[in-house]
Amino acid sequence: MSVSNFCSPASAVRAKVTFQTLQEKKQAGRPISALTAYDYATARLVDEAGVDLILVGDSLAQVVLGYETTLPVTVEEMLHHVRAVRRAVKHAIVAADMPYGSYHVSVQEGVTNAARFMKEAGAEAVKIEGGANRAELVERLTDAEIPVIGHLGLTPQSVHRMGGYRVQGKSLTAAEALLKDALALEAAGAVLIVLEGMPREVAQHITQRLSVPTIGIGAGPDCDGQILVFHDLVNLTFARPAKFVRQYGDAAALFRSAIDGYVRDVEQRAFPGEEESYHLPKEVRGAFETATPLRRKA
Ligand code: KIV
Repeated sequence: MSVSNFCSPASAVRAKVTFQTLQEKKQAGRPISALTAYDYATARLVDEAGVDLILVGDSLAQVVLGYETTLPVTVEEMLHHVRAVRRAVKHAIVAADMPYGSYHVSVQEGVTNAARFMKEAGAEAVKIEGGANRAELVERLTDAEIPVIGHLGLTPQSVHRMGGYRVQGKSLTAAEALLKDALALEAAGAVLIVLEGMPREVAQHITQRLSVPTIGIGAGPDCDGQILVFHDLVNLTFARPAKFVRQYGDAAALFRSAIDGYVRDVEQRAFPGEEESYHLPKEVRGAFETATPLRRKA
């Protein structure tokens, strides 16, 4: 099996996406597309499809590694996946999600871990969850030349504090708090803000009030862009999709049918066939058969 580095004709003419590109898109009212990816193959497909931003999300803890929540995934595991995605992507922005615990103990530790994603894995930005309580960290990261993506609303790393994966910002106080958090992140230097699991009206208001772009997930159509988890998009999660997910394909069905076909063919000795077999060169074959005659079956 080989990995080809040839670009498709579409990717050959595309310019590299930067945060300036996303800012221009917001100003021009052109939607920003973002998706998660966690490995070389899917990142390559996502990039070649023309997505603006690829997030190596800590959702990989659940959809790739099989954990119940995003909490257990480590910096080392995230680095491993960011490197794989980095090798695949030529055009989209590659952003790394900072896992739980990697920026919660101190600002200093947060900056040190974020720098690892930039330096050791080739990320172009990091994402952190939280609002005004992360403002100092956002300032320090920005000061360290690290573009920061904020993440507000249903923040999965807070699952236990929230009492489950619940839509946030439903009361007037909670909606106002989200707006305050968004403004605090922007003032601290965040270049983009993910709005997850909140009423459409709240996301719309935040999007209008901010100069930096927002990308929504479960936050309605009025954000500057949208992001989904790749495995949700293609039905690879083995779970009932959330209300905000739209499945654009059924990879589970496709993979199952391919795997079933393979197992059937192996069991029936229908694979490999003649066309999938290698042969000795003619001049060696006769000599080989004479020198090493097949043992007759008893
Ligand atoms: O980890 C993730 O995939 C995310 C996106 C859902 C925004 O944070």
